[in-house]
Amino acid sequence: MKNTIKRLLLTLGILAPGALMAQDATISTDTAIYFMAGFVLVVAVLVLVVAVIVLQVLKTIVRQEDEKKAAVQGIELPEPVSFWSRFMRKASDAVPIEEEETVLLDHNYDGIQELDNHLPPWWKWLFYMTIAFGVVYLFVYHVTDTLPLQQEEYDNQIAEAEALKAMRLKDSPKLAIDESTVQYVEDAAALASGKQVYDNNCSQCHRSDGGGSIGPNLTDEYWLHGGSIQDIFTTIKVGVPAKGMISWEPLLSPEQMQNVASYVMSMVGTNPPNPKAPQGEVYRAGEPTEEALPDSVQTVAIR
Ligand code: HEC
Repeated sequence: MKNTIKRLLLTLGILAPGALMAQDATISTDTAIYFMAGFVLVVAVLVLVVAVIVLQVLKTIVRQEDEKKAAVQGIELPEPVSFWSRFMRKASDAVPIEEEETVLLDHNYDGIQELDNHLPPWWKWLFYMTIAFGVVYLFVYHVTDTLPLQQEEYDNQIAEAEALKAMRLKDSPKLAIDESTVQYVEDAAALASGKQVYDNNCSQCHRSDGGGSIGPNLTDEYWLHGGSIQDIFTTIKVGVPAKGMISWEPLLSPEQMQNVASYVMSMVGTNPPNPKAPQGEVYRAGEPTEEALPDSVQTVAIR
């Protein structure tokens, strides 16, 4: 069975672009169904085109016969009306210009007169269809609740995303690192990765040796937002946008933020030359800090 489908698909290769993929040893059922549907569609269109052509030819032959007969009898045949113009006449229900007199209303305002044309049927049908659609819509969405409304659709998508997130976090716990679980990582690889993140993103403001320029000195024991690994991680994650330090959460992965926070901690006490003057409070490991949170978080906490 599989082989038959495959051969069929290969033949189809001429018609359906991408069918060359079918040369692979295995074809998924989905692909096979798509190809079959495509094949059926192409055949249907071809049949339709052929039918139209045959019809056209037949019509021409019949017309020629009629013209011959009419010529013998000396009658003149009326010009054939094309399908299109007949269709347009039906769809618009327009009165031909020569017959406009029949729909002319009898009032006359300073030479402006009015025709009593019908509403175009195509427009009326569209109108009826919107009414039918409205009824079905009301029934489906508000009476039977068969399909979800916007809010429900949104909630479903959020739930789906949450489930996906939970699954991914389970797969790789490193994505779950946050300010409560962050740890000072000492291994060389993590610090090296932290240094790379620092050199690429932070050195222009904090200097590559951490001595500080636009941003504060990160090597002394004075901290504006706390010097524990949790504090530093939080500062990096949330940022201090008002002071020019952006939130790095959208740009760095939790693991990268842990690494760069650890690298920042590892720079404390390195005493680089020409450091920026100390800012903030002294922080020493184990002592609680007063200003442990960045401004942005504090304002929220106060309110
Ligand atoms: C555009 C400049 C700029 C960049 C880039 C920048 N920072 Fe900052 N950073 C600052 C400023 C300014 C402050 C001081 C905020 C304040 O005054 O509250 C700061 C504060 C900090 C603090 C808190 C210091 C303290 O005293 O509490 C840490 C930690 C920090 N930055 C780490 C980083 C890290 C890590 C990166 C790179 C991922 C980085 N910064 C990138 C400008 C920057």
